[in-house]
Amino acid sequence: MEAKEVTLKIDDVEVKANQGATILDAAKKLGINIPTLCYSSALEPFGACRICSVEVVDKRGRKRIVTSCNYPVEEGLVVYTKSDKVVKTRKVLLELLLARCPNVTKLQDMAREYGVEKTRFWIGDEQEDCILCGLCSRVCEEKIGVSAINFAKRGVEREVTAPYHEFSNDCIGCGACAIVCPTKSKKLRINNYPTLPEDVERIEQRFLNGIKDEELGVYNDIFAAKSSIGGQDGGVATALLVSGMQRGLFDAAIVVQRVEGYRAEAVVAESVDDILKAKKTKYLRVKMMSKIGELLNKGKKKIAMVGTSCEVRAARKIQEALLEKFPDLELTIIGLFCFESFDYDKLKVETKKLMGIDLDQAEKTQIHKGKYIVTIDGKEYSTSVRDLTKAVENGCVYCDDFTAKLADVSVGSVGSEDGYSTVIVRSEKGKKLTENIDLTRGNVNKEEIAKLSALKKSRAKKNFAPILKDLQVQQPPPVLTPKI
Ligand SMILES: Cc1cc2nc3c(=O)[nH]c(=O)nc-3n(C[C@H](O)[C@H](O)[C@H](O)COP(=O)(O)OP(=O)(O)OC[C@H]3O[C@@H](n4cnc5c(N)ncnc54)[C@H](O)[C@@H]3O)c2cc1C
Ligand code: SF4
Ligand code: SF4
Ligand code: FES
Repeated sequence: MEAKEVTLKIDDVEVKANQGATILDAAKKLGINIPTLCYSSALEPFGACRICSVEVVDKRGRKRIVTSCNYPVEEGLVVYTKSDKVVKTRKVLLELLLARCPNVTKLQDMAREYGVEKTRFWIGDEQEDCILCGLCSRVCEEKIGVSAINFAKRGVEREVTAPYHEFSNDCIGCGACAIVCPTKSKKLRINNYPTLPEDVERIEQRFLNGIKDEELGVYNDIFAAKSSIGGQDGGVATALLVSGMQRGLFDAAIVVQRVEGYRAEAVVAESVDDILKAKKTKYLRVKMMSKIGELLNKGKKKIAMVGTSCEVRAARKIQEALLEKFPDLELTIIGLFCFESFDYDKLKVETKKLMGIDLDQAEKTQIHKGKYIVTIDGKEYSTSVRDLTKAVENGCVYCDDFTAKLADVSVGSVGSEDGYSTVIVRSEKGKKLTENIDLTRGNVNKEEIAKLSALKKSRAKKNFAPILKDLQVQQPPPVLTPKI
């Protein structure tokens, strides 16, 4: 059914707009520019900054200041976007915003446009750069579906942060929050891990070495291999951990172990036995970043971890932050190729629905050549991986890294024959870890890996497009500070 149209006047020009549209939408149709700070067409309006204020006159002649980004159009509504009252309102709002964030260039520029050079109000923290527009937390919740950050505290202390100010266990480093942030706030990098191209570049330069390939990332060696351990594919991830621990390259490793049925958790392995207990893939996204802090608190400085691309991104960001405080921290990161992960409860439901079996009884799960295969009592059950869409974890469709490009060594199954793991060595640390280890080598097919990597990137690009839509018109591309 077609939406009903209403006619209104904006700055004395008549315009038709669909019922349900906002004044801001209608003004855009006329090419009238109304400033906004907390608005994105991809998100639900929030009405936090009020900078989009306009004056409306309703049918009864009553005049009011309203926020245009969330005020619905009405038949016969008269709107003024530049009246004296509007300008005065915006000036006061800009002064208030400048009092909170005196050194944010975007605000200074906007204020200057309104003839505001400085604020009359009390200035708190000169370094404050978050205007509390909530775009970051809303994009994370509404679009990415992760809710890694939110508002905390009240009054002048109000801020956006991960729960309890701790390293986020949920952030997947997709970067959406940093992209939408109108002030490019540095705070967004304290306990969450938005990873934009400039962050990737910096991390590669600092921690990796080798040639850079668009799809495979930076690498100095790539091969297929299997160990005698009998893991998920070639058991190389486990073999590397065992060898690294035996050679003293680290004394604790964060691995993922099944705890109840197929449900899995990140655990700290401090012995070869612990590492072996965690072999094989659990196709779940597991919270693990808090383990790094826990280990440091226990005095551990030589730590290894295994994780999917998002976990690797997070670990690198944490490593950068922690190296300032603990220069002797040695973090070895083994990345796993990852196209998507699944939510345990949903995967259990879908597995039952599609194949009539109990995921908790699985001896092994495998995603191979588009099939999801579950082995129970030696018998294989399978279905197309496409049937599992409902169980895919929130945010994976915004993730653009298939090969865990920031790891020291990445391991996956794509690109190798059955029973082998594909191994991409990306750093000196990775080189050392893969040396002197007993592995049977095989052939690797780089094109197969590149194809999936490109597919994952294009999926993320398509999903990011609506988030980026207004930013192209409203803001220059993000310029981020290199520190978190
Ligand atoms: C969610 C997920 C999706 C994946 N998708 C793909 C894919 O699309 N294509 C592809 O080629 N490879 C994918 N992999 C990687 C692949 O399944 C194997 O993990 C990899 O090939 C290593 O095999 P291996 O025999 O060397 O591992 P093993 O020697 O068996 O060791 C596996 C290691 O992975 C760790 N681990 C298990 N589950 C998780 C988890 N959920 N999170 C973090 N660490 C975990 C274990 O602790 C263990 O140390 C995925 C892995 C995960 C976790
Ligand atoms: S990087 Fe992505 S997941 Fe992390 S807080 Fe930002 S929007 Fe949320
Ligand atoms: S696709 Fe994999 S690496 Fe990316 S967010 Fe999902 S679980 Fe993390
Ligand atoms: S843009 Fe409308 S209230 Fe912020």
